[in-house]
Amino acid sequence: MQEKIVGKAAVRKEGLGKVCGRAQYIDDISLPEMLHGATVRSSIARGRILGIEFGPGIPWNEFVIVTATDIPGENEIALINHDWPCLAREFVNHPEEPILLLAHADRHLLPKAVAAVRVQYEEMPAIFTIEESERGETIVWGTDNVFKSFLLEKDDVDAAWATADVIVEGEYTTGAQEHLYIENNGAIAAYSREGQLTVWGSLQCPFYVHKSLVKLTGLSEEKVRIVQVETGGAFGGKEDYPSMIGAHAALLAMKSGRPVKIVYDRAEDMAATTKRHPSRIRHRTAVTRDGRLQAAEIEIALDGGAYSTLSPTVLSRSTIHAGGPYFWPNIRVKSKALATNCPPHGAFRGFGAPQSLFAVERHMDHIAEALGLPPEEVRRRNFLKPGLTTATGQEIREALDLEKLMERALAESDYYAKRKRFDRVNAGAGTKKKGIGLATFLHGSGFTGSGERYLNSLVAVDLTAEGRARVLVSSTEFGQGTNTILCQIAAESLGVDYDLVEMGPPDTSVVPNSGPTVASRTSMVVGKLVQSAAHGLKQTLLASGLLAEGYTSAEFVAAARTYVAQHGSLRAESRYQAPPGVHWDDRTYRGEAYAAYAWAVYVAEVTVDLTTCGVTIDDFVAMQEAGRVLNPVLATGQIEGGVAQGIGWALYEKVVWNRGRMANNQMTNYIIPTTQDIPPIRVFFAELPFGHGAYGAKGIGELPMDGPAPAILNAVSHATGKQFDAVPLLPEDMFLRMAVRQPEPAVVAL
Ligand code: MOS
Repeated sequence: MQEKIVGKAAVRKEGLGKVCGRAQYIDDISLPEMLHGATVRSSIARGRILGIEFGPGIPWNEFVIVTATDIPGENEIALINHDWPCLAREFVNHPEEPILLLAHADRHLLPKAVAAVRVQYEEMPAIFTIEESERGETIVWGTDNVFKSFLLEKDDVDAAWATADVIVEGEYTTGAQEHLYIENNGAIAAYSREGQLTVWGSLQCPFYVHKSLVKLTGLSEEKVRIVQVETGGAFGGKEDYPSMIGAHAALLAMKSGRPVKIVYDRAEDMAATTKRHPSRIRHRTAVTRDGRLQAAEIEIALDGGAYSTLSPTVLSRSTIHAGGPYFWPNIRVKSKALATNCPPHGAFRGFGAPQSLFAVERHMDHIAEALGLPPEEVRRRNFLKPGLTTATGQEIREALDLEKLMERALAESDYYAKRKRFDRVNAGAGTKKKGIGLATFLHGSGFTGSGERYLNSLVAVDLTAEGRARVLVSSTEFGQGTNTILCQIAAESLGVDYDLVEMGPPDTSVVPNSGPTVASRTSMVVGKLVQSAAHGLKQTLLASGLLAEGYTSAEFVAAARTYVAQHGSLRAESRYQAPPGVHWDDRTYRGEAYAAYAWAVYVAEVTVDLTTCGVTIDDFVAMQEAGRVLNPVLATGQIEGGVAQGIGWALYEKVVWNRGRMANNQMTNYIIPTTQDIPPIRVFFAELPFGHGAYGAKGIGELPMDGPAPAILNAVSHATGKQFDAVPLLPEDMFLRMAVRQPEPAVVAL
């Protein structure tokens, strides 16, 4: 069937408001009598709070002051475990941990007041690295510093070592990464005389905040209402933290009886909120001389920071993606998320997969080098294909052809000719070396394992009095295109003009819980539910006799108006059901880890200046198969943005830690790539429609974060002939490494 609006570059639903400056972000909103809130945070990494003093020169009687003792319910930000306090009471476990809240009508008085609060501590020993945490000399969480561990096993790994032709080992590390959304975290809370709490915020997951605030306040579910306002970027950074800032605004509002706004400035947002988990991943691989992978032993360690927050699920995704898009007859993945005294690390686009895929894709190049085979050839000989199984035993059932996908990417990038030419040129004396490298990878769409079943997502589509259709979901727009995609799907399913479909408000008192806007699940999973709810709505209108098959949009509107006038309303719902054949065993960690995977091959071409150790990316090809492309402009934008973010993680973005605190929490010294640093990103899609995603869609949002770092470091390693196994790779990192390992005059000349 030829679709009318799905697959087209429909205009962004909220685009005009944003472009014209009409969009209202949290800091644009002001309520009558509103106060401004601020947070007093821990200045140390770990210790006991002995006392709090309110210093001189501040009219303290004008301030609303909230401590942990003011929390009516449980002092907890609700996620997976129950260890993340909303406000520290007796102990602090990381720098910048919230201890006390202040509110005042004059926001300019707040920084001075925050600085005048003196917290006395008895300091305790703290740990800051994966190695310190696993050594276990200082225990800062539980009995062993381990938030969560997994063991994933397929067949007999231990038997493979004795018969292997070659064993290749490697260790790969990745650093923290700051989301750097354009808009910092912010929230406004209001508490009415009737005991109704409303929180507006810049956020991804209204029902996460709802659940957390019900627990914190002890209010009933009906008395807590969460509303997402226009959100200026998120990338996972507004998956968990809005429950914290929302809780803080709520506590101040409940104590003062007045609305309270808290908006972080950039320095506070960077220092205090979550980042991508740093990782250390070790590979040991048995491989035959002709390049067949026989067995893998992979050890993953993630630095989770001081509280477990989302680390168990991030680790789960790391674990499942550890083997990459390859067939391993035998594989064992041992993984753990460890506690340190850094602020908790959290969700960030890719959610644990980028770390694992960086490691396995660098490792594949090491294997190729060990065997004297081209990197693409080792991959080609080991790709997953229909009938083969993943590390969790999931059989590939779609018509996957990774070899073809790779050949297309290599052709677009002129890989073979360039690889040869660069090898020749690099043998010369010049100080500018050229390299080309690739990464082949996969990303599971939607929640892992039984996750989607537990979410039990519900969506609705209803009719307005004007005869328009309205999509009711808790899925949120934060720049990635949710509103546009879901309206395209509804319009297609209803058979009406795109302009006749609108989004309902992202307000927990209005919309059903369609789950969080995370995990590349919105287009595929929520979209499919919108498609079927819209279909149900259409069927009801047809059955009513007000509408006949072959209707025009105008006839639909007329019928819808009449229906609403006669019956008051019309609403159709759809609830998630797992696709057939999707089974997961949480106990053994085996089965269909994801209903669908997106697949990709990225190729980076670089120039490395041996004098400055600067890397320039000259060309970037991003080839992917993410099911049906619902909107080519939005899909391309997701890929371009993800590649840019991946380039940042690989070459620019270094979080400098000072005893658990981000030392470079400013945009002047935490550097992200600008347009000047981004190469042409050439985006290509192959389409293998997924029958259980909306109009064949799979997840696309996180995929492009996974490939750039390994492709770029593979290219840099090709250019220099040196192996670089850690990101970020800044010029000083390259310089030190080259200087230590290879004291050639051309390299170390100072
Ligand atoms: Mo995401 S990193 O699943 O918000």
